[in-house]
Amino acid sequence: MLDIRGLSKRFGYGKGEVTALHEVSFQIAEREFFTLLGPSGCGKTTLLRLIAGFTGPSGGSIVLDGKDIAAMPPNRRPVNTVFQSYALFPHMTVGQNVAFALEAQGRPKSEIDPAIDEMLTLVQLLHLKHRKSSELSGGQQQRVALARALVARPRILLLDEPLSALDMKLRKDMQIELKRLQRETGLTFIFVTHDQEEALTMSDRIAVMSGGRVQQIATPRELYDRPANRFVAGFIGESNFLSAMASGGVVEVGDGKVHLADAPDGALTLMIRPEHVVLSAKAPDALQLEATVNQLVFFGTDTHVHLLLNDGTKIVARVQNALHAGQSFHEGERIFLSLPSNALRVVNEAEAEA
Ligand SMILES: Nc1ncnc2c1ncn2[C@@H]1O[C@H](COP(=O)(O)OP(=O)(O)OP(=O)(O)O)[C@@H](O)[C@H]1O
Ligand SMILES: [Mg+2]
Repeated sequence: MLDIRGLSKRFGYGKGEVTALHEVSFQIAEREFFTLLGPSGCGKTTLLRLIAGFTGPSGGSIVLDGKDIAAMPPNRRPVNTVFQSYALFPHMTVGQNVAFALEAQGRPKSEIDPAIDEMLTLVQLLHLKHRKSSELSGGQQQRVALARALVARPRILLLDEPLSALDMKLRKDMQIELKRLQRETGLTFIFVTHDQEEALTMSDRIAVMSGGRVQQIATPRELYDRPANRFVAGFIGESNFLSAMASGGVVEVGDGKVHLADAPDGALTLMIRPEHVVLSAKAPDALQLEATVNQLVFFGTDTHVHLLLNDGTKIVARVQNALHAGQSFHEGERIFLSLPSNALRVVNEAEAEA
């Protein structure tokens, strides 16, 4: 449905030139919940602004339903944006805020009234229809902004960190709400966040960005299980990295060895997630190492065991806290750890060039 091809954006001239996007390409399917995830300044908002038409590209094209829309003005694009600051009209009621776009389009009242009620029902705010928007909570204002963006039935809804102003509890509720709204309306969402957990829980697919480039595009599961490079592995979830030496599919780390068929010969970096590190048990087909327990950090559902390998490498293991604790560790203790071969990944050190 949406085909972004080699899209570039530069700001400024000469020495002051900033390349915010370097030939970014991806495709989005109809009804997809697609997320742009990356650290501050990586180009997420710039990409959204290009899709919305608020700024023009320095190169590349934006093709919607087979047509290049690069020259189309923003108000003609079947795209709507929810900005981080929801920018509601404070003196207007909830209903008037939502009606605004439809009134501006000159739609008849007989069409507008039912559309507003339907939209307010969807965001569960019908009971506040006549309340001024300045008299709403942050989460309620957020939902008005969504209703206002959805009521015009855009083909694509662009959401730029729409939940960042909300507290944790409200944010979690709104995440579920947004996902439900997207399913019920059948719209295509392009959602921007720098919160990896939010991206993982909500998205069909995620594009991880850094330095104006797309590092990897994949489903949340693929991204977590098979990160393309060290940047993605470090940005999505928690990771342990180990320096290793490989030859003929045998990988050595310190005085441990493991068979990894896909490991290329030479020096490489291995990655393993903290929840896959097995403590005090010799798992079969695993890299066995000795370590010292350095620190224990209690997280409620689990405990993070910080370990120090003989060569000084730091490893974190995550141990689930059962009601009847089976394992217990203490700081300074020497223990064995097993890194199962099916949980070890060879990661590319270099990210796509910044
Ligand atoms: N109008 C502009 N003029 C010059 N540089 C700009 C302009 N807009 C953005 N940039 C630069 O382009 C880069 C990408 O900015 P962008 O706003 O897209 O980042 P972002 O990923 O949305 O970050 P954040 O998470 O902080 O919102 C940054 O280095 C920024 O300083
Ligand atoms: Mg931004």
